[in-house]
Amino acid sequence: MGSAAVLILFLTAVHVVTAATVHEHSQCLDNPPDISLRGVEAGEVVDDLPGGFRAYVTGPSMSSRAVVLASDVYGTDTEVTAAQDAKPLFTYLRNKGKSIGVGGYCWGGKFATEMAKTDDIEVVVLSHPAYVIVDDMKEVKWPIEILGAQNDTVTPPEQVRQFDQALRQRMDIEYFVKIFQRVAHGFACRYNTTDPFAVKSAEQALAYMLDWFHKYLK
Ligand SMILES: *[C@@H]1O[C@H](CO)[C@@H](O)[C@H](O)[C@H]1NC(C)=O
Ligand SMILES: *[C@@H]1O[C@H](CO)[C@@H](O)[C@H](O)[C@H]1NC(C)=O
Repeated sequence: MGSAAVLILFLTAVHVVTAATVHEHSQCLDNPPDISLRGVEAGEVVDDLPGGFRAYVTGPSMSSRAVVLASDVYGTDTEVTAAQDAKPLFTYLRNKGKSIGVGGYCWGGKFATEMAKTDDIEVVVLSHPAYVIVDDMKEVKWPIEILGAQNDTVTPPEQVRQFDQALRQRMDIEYFVKIFQRVAHGFACRYNTTDPFAVKSAEQALAYMLDWFHKYLK
């Protein structure tokens, strides 16, 4: 992928978790996006990232572009405090000269939204988010892509369309909203790998996300 290659950090936990919550992992974490689809080499788990984060890290560490993927909530953190807790991680990446995108699945969509209100990052993608509200769209500062699902009962299509409307009012933000048909909440990160339609939908969502990052990461 040459200069387009991106360093990817898939956050799996923060150190503040208790032993009890470690096992309470999310559906969305069971099948992390198959980054190898896009020709990036297999990665490794790094336990001691700044801010106490643990992440599955893949892609060239020297890349000028980094994507941080987040899925579910851990410990007692709320999504807002998690965004604050993540500050050292983003400072660390910025100090390495990286242009940073955040991709959020489910609860991670709220995390990505909170990050989009800061100056720590440059682009976000929300896949079937949870807890995101219309007013959030008034505060995001960076290009935002939202991938919803027709059968999502957590953030139903009507709500995704409200996000679209709110973003349309903004003249200062690049945005893209798509609702995937015949799939449910979680479709982009946890899906039936023997169902061709489910696999295709998830692959398309991943492609949309990576394209959005490639477009807006410097
Ligand atoms: C999505 O909803 C439609 C209409 O209610 C239904 O026919 C379909 O089976 C659902 N598909 C999934 C994957 O949930
Ligand atoms: C997964 O998809 C296959 C093929 O469509 C289907 O036969 C199977 O029942 C599905 N499994 C689940 C758990 O939905």
